[in-house]
Amino acid sequence: MAYRNLEITNRGAVNVITVNRPDKLNALNRETLNELGMAFTQAAYDDAVRVVVLAGAGEKAFVAGADIAEMHGYTATQAQAFSRVGQQLMTSIERLGKPVIARVQGFALGGGMELAMACHFRVASEKAKFGQPEINLGLIPGFGGTQRLLRLAGRGAALELCLTGTPITAQRAFELGIVNRVVAPDALDTTVDALADQLAVAAPLAAAGIMDAVLSGGETALDQGLEFETQAFALAFSTEDMREGTTAFMEKRKAVFRGR
Ligand code: COA
Repeated sequence: MAYRNLEITNRGAVNVITVNRPDKLNALNRETLNELGMAFTQAAYDDAVRVVVLAGAGEKAFVAGADIAEMHGYTATQAQAFSRVGQQLMTSIERLGKPVIARVQGFALGGGMELAMACHFRVASEKAKFGQPEINLGLIPGFGGTQRLLRLAGRGAALELCLTGTPITAQRAFELGIVNRVVAPDALDTTVDALADQLAVAAPLAAAGIMDAVLSGGETALDQGLEFETQAFALAFSTEDMREGTTAFMEKRKAVFRGR
């Protein structure tokens, strides 16, 4: 599949999706949103893909937001559709069923921060900047930012970032629990690759169960979340991978998981 705004590569079981509009700091226009939707669907269907790394081309930006030039002329109805399409993309990433790592080397602003927050991991360079600057445009976040930031970092951080619009450093984002790892710029790729490699050999059905339980549990009461966990736990016992994992432990060898 040929994309105009994405570059897709594979490294073993790791599928790397790179937003490739560096002259516009990888801003998300409608076409890019559509292409991301297709690329993630492809990754979901491809059994050979165990992990996705999402990146932005160039040195400067992961993604500097939704495309402001495109949004400028929108009517409220068009904005509603744009927000819904963006939100659906973010939710489809979050619910992909395979771990997704955001590789953030520069600006992750607005829709870029929302995109990073929809991923399951955020690995950032010390040079990265995170922010929800929509208020400076007379807007509010429209791709889930108010909701995912609230859930990731709490009400205080969500209100501060969205109301001030001031970007924060990767280190501050780490302190707030938004970013998982902050590393020197020249260590970014090795850190992302090592995490991706670790996830690529993990039991895929167990990983899917964990993501489902954590994501669903965040939206329910504790007893419902616990029941969900019990059902996912029981389901794991129907998999070949569970037999392989426990057998390998007893045989003192490394398990090989096949996602069955
Ligand atoms: N939408 C559309 N185009 C964008 C963009 C966005 N979100 N962010 C950057 N660009 C474009 C710029 O218009 C510029 O294009 P041009 O060369 O054709 O004029 C190009 O990317 C480079 O950006 P520029 O602003 O010149 O880089 P900079 O280093 O001076 O500033 C930023 C970098 C990130 C501080 C600045 O680009 C910015 O504030 N971007 C918007 C961030 C934002 O508000 N995001 C939320 C959107 S809802």
